Amino acid sequence: MNRVRALQPTPGAHDHSPGNQDRVSIDDVRALREQFFDFMLGYKFAIDEITTKINILREDFNNTHEYNPIEHVGSRLKSPESVLEKVQRKNYPMNLASIRENVLDIAGVRVVCSFISDIALIRDMLVGQEDITLLEERDYITHRKPNGYQSLHLIVSIPVFRSNRTDRMPVEIQIRTIAMDFWASLEHKIYYKYSGEVPSNLQSDLAQAAEVAAQLDEKMEALHSQVDRTADTQHSPLDSLDLSKLYGLTADPADTPPGPRISRPRPR
Ligand code: GTP
Ligand code: MG
Repeated sequence: MNRVRALQPTPGAHDHSPGNQDRVSIDDVRALREQFFDFMLGYKFAIDEITTKINILREDFNNTHEYNPIEHVGSRLKSPESVLEKVQRKNYPMNLASIRENVLDIAGVRVVCSFISDIALIRDMLVGQEDITLLEERDYITHRKPNGYQSLHLIVSIPVFRSNRTDRMPVEIQIRTIAMDFWASLEHKIYYKYSGEVPSNLQSDLAQAAEVAAQLDEKMEALHSQVDRTADTQHSPLDSLDLSKLYGLTADPADTPPGPRISRPRPR
């Protein structure tokens, strides 16, 4: 492993001349590949950490408020080819230290919510966690992109506890509604189909569709806020759980099942 560390190219000290590269042995190349794999693994672990946090928030929020603000969660690890392509395209120095510092979207997590208000809810619950540091925030919902794209983008860093060290890893988190997600996935397909040169009639159709999606989100939000959640009469599986022994309580005989009210014993 020390050998791998010694091969870590340091900014400025690396000799890019072809003559020098020609002398790299197969073992050296293998060691560098291992080093790169280890580097990328850290981002995979960062995705695992954030995904677990989001799943815990989802289950805990659902348990506490009987409401689930998260529709689904997805993630992707940027491929090594895309990472290197981005470094080249953005003219960043070609070494691991530079990738670590400049390419902050190698680990990506997407959270899709039902309603616009859920977005801020998720954002605050995540950013409020003491091991999460907010590095960057872009609000493409308040400031929609000219093509119509809407989403809240966060770049956060979290500690990843490796077997021999702790690394703070950046993760890009995109939070959006189902309607915004629907729009973005179609726009993405169209963008790639036309290699970025989307015909102007399609561009304006997409912008219109984004407006319709935004209106739908507003309507759904308004409908949602009209629903009185306290009127929810759904029975919980907990209703039949008898905790009288645990808390030394007696059930009120006036209560009829399901959902007996538990009353405290009167003080003598
Ligand atoms: P990159 O250098 O490509 O990472 O862009 P950036 O650093 O300017 O970040 P930005 O926040 O604009 O975009 C990051 C990610 O958001 C992209 O990789 C997409 O997943 C998503 N995104 C941003 N703009 C659009 C858009 O117009 N359409 C769609 N479908 N997705 C977008
Ligand atoms: Mg980015």
